[in-house]
Amino acid sequence: MAESLIVDANLSKEEKYKALLPQIEALTTGETDLIANISNMVAALRQGMGFFWVGVYFNKEEQLVLGPFQGPVACTRIAYHKGVCGACYTQQKTILVPDVEAFPGHIACSSDSKSEIVLPAIKDGEVKLVLDVDSDKLNDFDAVDQKYLEQLMKLVESWY
Ligand code: SME
Repeated sequence: MAESLIVDANLSKEEKYKALLPQIEALTTGETDLIANISNMVAALRQGMGFFWVGVYFNKEEQLVLGPFQGPVACTRIAYHKGVCGACYTQQKTILVPDVEAFPGHIACSSDSKSEIVLPAIKDGEVKLVLDVDSDKLNDFDAVDQKYLEQLMKLVESWY
């Protein structure tokens, strides 16, 4: 498909996800390079949803290492047991944080980040990467984000 994205800024959040997810699938179908697909996925999420920061951390070298992202510069390495990303890795489930200040051990890559959702991509029982989305507003993520981003992680899992 053409490398362009159409998501009407006036849509509701749920409608935006519904418009965006098939476009991310189309954009990545037929491309076998993992980094290329993840790069376009995070760019599409930033462009379509207007996220403050969105990116992935790969499970590699016994820690979580920064991969493709969109937004301000970020910490490059996170220990398995540290921060929201580490909690997502160790618990192998989505972690939704309405107020990062209230999350013990939260790693502040940017002082502008106020709320966060982190989701795992799991293959053969192992977390391959986590997708981290940050907002500069408190309480910005909910069950709608969780539902559609978890659907997206199924697509990511299919790339492994
Ligand atoms: N806040 C994350 C670290 C990654 S940055 O937000 C991009 C955490 O606590 O794991």
